[in-house]
Amino acid sequence: MGRTKIYVVLLMILELFLVGTTKGEETCEHDRQMEELCRSHTYKSVKPLLDYFRQVRNELDQSEMKEKQISEINCDLMNKYHEIVRIHEKQISEINSDLMNKYHEIVRIHEKLMKEAFQLDEYKNKILRKENDLQLCQSKVDKLESEVNSQKITINKLTLHANFLASYDKCKEELSDESDNLEICEDQLKKLNSSIIEKDKKISRHSVTIQNLTEHQNTVELKLESSQTKLIKKDKDIEICHAEITKLNRTSHLNIPSSCLPFGEHSGVHEIKVSGIGFFDVLCDSQVAGPGWIVIQQRIGGKENFTRDWATYRKGFGSLDSDFFLGLEKMYRLTSLQQYELYIHLVVLNGSIFYARYDDFKISDEDHGYALSLGKFKGNIRDAMRSTENKKFTTFDRDNDSADNNCAVVYDSGWWYNNCYNCNLNALYGMYLNWWTEIRNLLKEAKMLIRPKAEINN
Ligand SMILES: *[C@@H]1O[C@H](CO)[C@@H](O)[C@H](O)[C@H]1NC(C)=O
Ligand SMILES: *[C@@H]1O[C@H](CO)[C@@H](O)[C@H](O)[C@H]1NC(C)=O
Ligand SMILES: *[C@@H]1O[C@H](CO)[C@@H](O)[C@H](O)[C@H]1NC(C)=O
Ligand SMILES: *[C@@H]1O[C@H](CO)[C@@H](O)[C@H](O)[C@H]1NC(C)=O
Ligand SMILES: *[C@@H]1O[C@H](CO)[C@@H](O)[C@H](O)[C@H]1NC(C)=O
Ligand SMILES: *[C@@H]1O[C@H](CO)[C@@H](O)[C@H](O)[C@H]1NC(C)=O
Repeated sequence: MGRTKIYVVLLMILELFLVGTTKGEETCEHDRQMEELCRSHTYKSVKPLLDYFRQVRNELDQSEMKEKQISEINCDLMNKYHEIVRIHEKQISEINSDLMNKYHEIVRIHEKLMKEAFQLDEYKNKILRKENDLQLCQSKVDKLESEVNSQKITINKLTLHANFLASYDKCKEELSDESDNLEICEDQLKKLNSSIIEKDKKISRHSVTIQNLTEHQNTVELKLESSQTKLIKKDKDIEICHAEITKLNRTSHLNIPSSCLPFGEHSGVHEIKVSGIGFFDVLCDSQVAGPGWIVIQQRIGGKENFTRDWATYRKGFGSLDSDFFLGLEKMYRLTSLQQYELYIHLVVLNGSIFYARYDDFKISDEDHGYALSLGKFKGNIRDAMRSTENKKFTTFDRDNDSADNNCAVVYDSGWWYNNCYNCNLNALYGMYLNWWTEIRNLLKEAKMLIRPKAEINN
């Protein structure tokens, strides 16, 4: 500021100076000359002043610029300051509003807490009241309990009393029962007594009988002794008798026949005797083909099993009143004594009867396989046995047939198989029992009968 004042004063001085100098132009040439002269004089004196002014002026200009810059900076600073102040104010107001919010919130929380504290007080009061109630209740319960206890005691007393009464009743009942039992016992005793008395009576009676019996025994013994002596005598008689009988038996055995012929028309089982075997029963038949036939094989019901081994066929099997096979050994022994004829009797399901007859039937001994011989054929049917002539007997355990395998196994029976047969009267009863193909699965009955040939003229 001081500079500006100085500057202004200097300007005024300069102006005064300049006015003094410029007035000369209007004057005259004289003046100009004067002036020139002056100028040459004044210049020399004023020049440093002018320089000084000029310098001052420059400095003034510079300071003015600086002032200007300073004022600009000031202005800038002022702006910045204002901005900062604004920002601060804004922040402060924000913080203030925030604080206000917080404050309000705190106020709210405080109110809430107050309310809860109030509620808490209320609860406390309630609890206190409840506790009071509880105490009251407890005292009541105690009272009741004591009452119940006293009642229990009285009840116990009562039940004791009742039990006593009950046991008393029971006792009474038992006593009466006992008396009943006693009565029953007495009755039983009486009964026992009476039965014992009866038994005693019986015993005495029995002892009498025993006495009588011993007496009787004595007499019997006496009789026995006499009997024994008689018996010894009789034994001697019997011995004599026996000797006579055996004598008779011997003579009678000589008369036992070796075939059914002597029995004639008397069909049924008879004993015959054959040398090499002895006595055995045979079925004699006089119905099929006249009198005197021995049945050596019979199928009339299928009740016998003909699937038998060699030993069984050798010995014979079955029952004479049903199906049977007399046995190969007997057949061999019989037919080896004399000429026999064979009669085959076949009954078909439709009732037709067929026969086949061979006039020289025999079989060889066992060593030769009981081979079959037939003789001449006669009959009302084809000769089906011829193919088995001279064939050995075959069973499932002894294969003497001409087939590769065992025919007895294939056809479940022993027979004089070739390869294998045209007839098999030992086959399974039913469809296998056959005579040629004419009679297959049709045979109701089959029988083989033999009879000595020579003794009858047929
Ligand atoms: C048994 O019977 C006889 C004769 O009747 C009598 O004397 C006896 O006293 C009886 N005994 C009893 C135990 O009843
Ligand atoms: C015992 O024998 C006698 C005669 O000897 C007879 O009178 C009596 O009846 C017989 N008694 C009996 C139980 O048999
Ligand atoms: C007759 O003799 C036979 C054979 O010798 C014998 O089995 C039978 O028991 C005898 N009979 C009597 C009655 O002696
Ligand atoms: C017949 O006898 C044979 C040999 O003992 C046996 O294998 C078979 O099962 C018997 N058949 C019947 C039907 O009993
Ligand atoms: C019974 O059946 C046999 C064998 O089939 C036959 O040959 C015969 O003529 C029949 N007889 C009758 C009376 O039908
Ligand atoms: C029959 O056949 C058996 C074997 O199966 C054989 O041991 C036996 O010698 C034969 N018998 C005859 C007489 O050929």
